[in-house]
Amino acid sequence: METKRLFIAINFPPDIKASMVTCIENLKIKAVRGNFTREENLHLTLAFIGESDRFADAAKIMEEIAAQPILLSFGKVGKFAHNRGDLYWLGTQHSSVLFALQSALTKKLIAAGFEIEARPFRPHITLGREVVAQNINIEVPEMSFMVNHIELMQSCRENGKLCYLTLYQKELTLNKP
Ligand code: 2AM
Repeated sequence: METKRLFIAINFPPDIKASMVTCIENLKIKAVRGNFTREENLHLTLAFIGESDRFADAAKIMEEIAAQPILLSFGKVGKFAHNRGDLYWLGTQHSSVLFALQSALTKKLIAAGFEIEARPFRPHITLGREVVAQNINIEVPEMSFMVNHIELMQSCRENGKLCYLTLYQKELTLNKP
């Protein structure tokens, strides 16, 4: 059966993405070079599944999870160091509801036989990869929004461009489905 590169993510409304783009534009100006995230690709990953043909199983796990809407606020810009240039990200303010959802999803995926990396969750939105810059400080506008959905995403390449498709959307409601 065909496999797809899968992950579960939070996507953002247009006004939040527009604010994130101002951070990216700022980063671009200050960086020597980098591969910056396109506006339509901005997201926050909750669980990276990787190559799998079990889309329906992943969607079922999402469907069955009990989860409430999450008030998400954003924090500072930081980086993960890499040899070829750093990965710059936008962080979130701590949310125990977000961590609880990520943990519940990961546990259920692992119990169902998905090979999910058990590394600590560091919620971030990738703004740019392979970024070369020195001591930059990026201002982050005040922004927050209510997360009402999480999505099963497919990562693919179209004419060499990285793009993401939504395969399934789970609504976060206060009650069990
Ligand atoms: P990143 O932006 O920090 O690279 C799709 O690739 C999404 O899954 C990205 O948000 C990516 O995070 C995330 N991801 C998490 N673990 C990954 C892994 N082992 N390989 C590739 N992407 C991963």
